[in-house]
Amino acid sequence: MKRIKIKELLSNSSQYIDTQITLKGWVRTKRGNKHVAFVALNDGSTIHTIQIVLDVAKFSEEQLKDVTTGACIGVTGKLVQSQGAGQSVEIQGETLEVIGVADPETYPLQKKGHSLEFLREIAHLRPRTNTFSCVLRLRHAMAFAVHKFYNDKGFVYVHTPIITGSDAEGAGAMFQVTTLDVSNPPKTKEGAVDYTKDFFGKATNLTVSGQLEGELAAMALGEVYTFGPTFRAENSNTTRHLAEFWMIEPEMAFYEIQDNMDLAEEFLKYLVQYALDNCIDDLNFLNEMYDKELVARLKSVVETPFVRLNYTEAVEILIATKQKFEYKVEWGIDLQSEHERYLVEKHFLKPVILTNYPKDIKAFYMKANEDGKTVRAMDVLFPGIGEIIGGSQREDNLEKLQARCKEVGIHENEIWWYLETRKFGSAPHSGFGLGFERLMLFVTGMGNIRDVIPFPRTPQSAEF
Ligand code: 4AD
Ligand code: MG
Repeated sequence: MKRIKIKELLSNSSQYIDTQITLKGWVRTKRGNKHVAFVALNDGSTIHTIQIVLDVAKFSEEQLKDVTTGACIGVTGKLVQSQGAGQSVEIQGETLEVIGVADPETYPLQKKGHSLEFLREIAHLRPRTNTFSCVLRLRHAMAFAVHKFYNDKGFVYVHTPIITGSDAEGAGAMFQVTTLDVSNPPKTKEGAVDYTKDFFGKATNLTVSGQLEGELAAMALGEVYTFGPTFRAENSNTTRHLAEFWMIEPEMAFYEIQDNMDLAEEFLKYLVQYALDNCIDDLNFLNEMYDKELVARLKSVVETPFVRLNYTEAVEILIATKQKFEYKVEWGIDLQSEHERYLVEKHFLKPVILTNYPKDIKAFYMKANEDGKTVRAMDVLFPGIGEIIGGSQREDNLEKLQARCKEVGIHENEIWWYLETRKFGSAPHSGFGLGFERLMLFVTGMGNIRDVIPFPRTPQSAEF
């Protein structure tokens, strides 16, 4: 008999009532007595389990003893209205197949309520928990919603390279990609590593952002986006940073900074609304278990217009407050997460889009303002997260961009191809990057970014 998923069964139970069905999944718990066993079965299609009732007389002792927490079983039986409290329907098991045993002595997920830290150590098994199955289903839903949002708007999904010779953010925190023997690399006459002998004939890295290549595509296709893995070798051991994370980067011709902000706000609201509309069971579980404000916070973000504020005004607010910060605030500093969170969580109590940052703390490609000091950057700051989006209008004037490259020490021969879009048919354009795991932190209410990606990569940790 063909297997039915529990989500389908519970969503359409009246259609299946009194019919024979087959389910396959993993045992969450088994309880009962001499006569009857009650098994809570989950198959990952939903947070909910279904109760399987097994009449002990109908099955061999041998078989029943293998039905333990974590074991994989298949059951065929009739769906009936449940006699007991706690569920409306249940399965009266008629045939039982133990597909894979899970030795109770060694299966690590015996009891409920393991700590998130412990679960990180068994990341290969944590999708079996309610928490991680929620997170993974939500992750899928958000990835799907990203594509739906842009597809419905006519944006083109562009695959930008993972291995690159350029440092898009100019931050220098890159992982090198090489096939050279690192213990004995070939050397030039001057004694430097001879990268002409390396696989690509030059030094290469894992990308920190698909933006520069995204811009090339936007100058032909108009509105594009990338959605892929990005890598940062920064030694930030925080609950907000990963060395490998996923980023969504739209890039749009003919958008000024205001249009860019409008799109960012619409996009975030769309994603959050999508989660509320499509994943409410998972959200309710996380709300109950981890964060009693979660669903209310999600709803409030969808309904609230984001505050839009100049960096300079933000600095004035931060200087004027009585609140003590670890890092002193003055015009020109890169705002720390404590500053961002003060603005969002204490001062405005809503998401904030900060614009017009000092040029010295932002990347080389951002469009200069007339004041000569600031650039058309924008960061979107979210409650509980801090920076969730970073973006800007791009410098589209060739001479200004060349001058800026010179100032920050980027050689033209490294990014001649990028400069050529400003030489041939240049146009105003803008874009931004949404950190997918920062979004997932917000949507799930989880407190640590390591708990919203299946296999986190952080300093000193690349297990699994
Ligand atoms: O602000 P960032 O560095 O901007 C860029 O990379 C631009 N090229 C984006 C663009 O304009 N196309 O990164 C963008 C976002 C941040 O706002 C944050 O959400 C996320 O990426 N992010 C990280 N997420 C997890 N771990 C890290 N180490 C992250 N670094 C950035
Ligand atoms: Mg940023």
